[in-house]
Amino acid sequence: MRLQKPRGTRDFLPDEMERRREIEARMRETVRRFGYREVCTPVFEHLDLFTMKSGEGIIEEMYVFVDKGGRHLTLRPEVTASVVRMFVNEGRNLPKPLRWCYFADCFRYERPQKGRYRQFWQFGIELIGADTAFADAEVVVAADEMLKAAGVTYDLQVGHLAPVKSLIAGLSPDLQRRVMTCLDKRDFGALEESLAGERQGADLVESLTAVAGCRSPDDLFAITGAIPEKDRITEICELLESQKVPYGLNFAIVRGLDYYTGMVFEAFAPNLGAENQILGGGTYRLAHLFGGDDVASCGFAAGFDRIMVSLGEFTTAGRPGAAIVCTPEAGMRGLEVAAAFRAAGIRTETDLMGRSLGAQVTHAAKSADFAVIIGKKECESGLVTLKNLHTGEQRGLALRDAVAEVSGFGDR
Ligand code: HAM
Repeated sequence: MRLQKPRGTRDFLPDEMERRREIEARMRETVRRFGYREVCTPVFEHLDLFTMKSGEGIIEEMYVFVDKGGRHLTLRPEVTASVVRMFVNEGRNLPKPLRWCYFADCFRYERPQKGRYRQFWQFGIELIGADTAFADAEVVVAADEMLKAAGVTYDLQVGHLAPVKSLIAGLSPDLQRRVMTCLDKRDFGALEESLAGERQGADLVESLTAVAGCRSPDDLFAITGAIPEKDRITEICELLESQKVPYGLNFAIVRGLDYYTGMVFEAFAPNLGAENQILGGGTYRLAHLFGGDDVASCGFAAGFDRIMVSLGEFTTAGRPGAAIVCTPEAGMRGLEVAAAFRAAGIRTETDLMGRSLGAQVTHAAKSADFAVIIGKKECESGLVTLKNLHTGEQRGLALRDAVAEVSGFGDR
C-alpha cells in the first residue's frame, strides 16, 4: 500500500512552489516598504499561550500533544500570540512601535475542504506599541497594498467592535459571546432566537441589525449615540479615505478570535466559495496576559493558500535555465562550462545519465531555455554552441559571450 499524506495537508510540486514563492516575494516586498521586518517563532508553543485568552474550548481545534518531558504543547494555530510572547520576552526594550512581519505555517484541526486545510500558511504583520487611528489605518493600508501586489480581486471590509459592544453591554458574558458569534456568521435568525427571552430583546435585535447594516459613521452614531470611540472611528475612516483605500464599513465584523479590542477588518475574494475570507485582523491587547505591559497592538494575517487558490493557474516569469550537452570527447570541459554558467547565477543542469547528444537535447528542451553543446568540434575550436531551445536557432560563441546571452534572456 502506498502511504498517503495526512488529511488536510498538501504536497507542492516545483511549478507550484515557484508560483507560491513569486507571490510571497511580492507580499514581503510590500510590507518591507512600510518598515515591517521579519521575525520567526517556534512551530510549537506551550498550550497555555492559546488557552489563556480563548479558554479550553480552543483545544478541540488544535494539534495538542504532550512531549517526552510531560509538557503540554500545541502546533501553532496562528502567529499573533507567539509574536506577542516574543515581544514580551525579547522586545520589551526595543524602541516602539515595533513593526514585525512573518510568513509561517499554522495548524488547525478543522474539517478540510477547498481553501481550508490542517496545515496552511499565514503572511502577517503586527504593529506593537502604537495606540492611534494612524496605527490602525497603517495596518489596513498595508493589507490593501499587499493584496493588490499579490494580484487578487478582493472586497475589503472595516469595522469596529465598540458599537456592538456598547449595545450588548447589559447582557451576561455568555450571551454577549453568543450574540457576537451570530453576528460573525451574519445569522440574524439565530440572533433573534438568542435574544428572545431577554427584556427588550426585540429592540436589541433591531438595533444590532441596524448597526450591522450601517455603511457610514453618521448612520452608525445616529443609532449608538456618541460612544467613546466615536472620534477614533471617524478618524480611521478619514485616514483610509485620504489614502484612497477601497473599503466598505461593516460593523457586523466581530472576528472569531477573542483578543480583538477595537478596529477589526477582513478581506474576501469573490471568486472563492465558502472559504472566501483571505485576510483578517484588527487591534488587540495580549501582552499583559503573557507577563508584559498592557500594550496596544494591531495586525493582520492573510491566508496565503486561499490567495493562491483565488489567483488560479498562472505561469511565473521564471529565470532562464541552461543545460550543458556534451559528447564523451568533452571530458571535464562540460563541468567547467557548467560552473561558469552557475557562477553567473544561471540555473544549469548537466547530463547524469550518459545519454546520447540527441537525447540530451530532447531532455534539455523539457526543462531549460538553452542547450550549451560541447562536442568534438567545440573541443577543437574552444567555443561552445548555444542553442535557443524555443526557436531552435544556434551559434558558436566564446564561453563568456554565451553566458552573457543566456543572462540577458528575457530582458528584451
Ligand atoms: P484568522 O482570521 O483566524 O486570524 O486567520 C487569518 C487568515 O488565515 C484567514 O482570513 C484565512 O484566510 C486564513 N485561514 C484560517 N484558517 C485557515 C485554514 N484552516 N486553511 C486555510 N487558511 C486559513 C488570525 O489568525 C489572526 N492571528 C490575524 C491577526 C494578526 N490579527 C491580528 N494580527
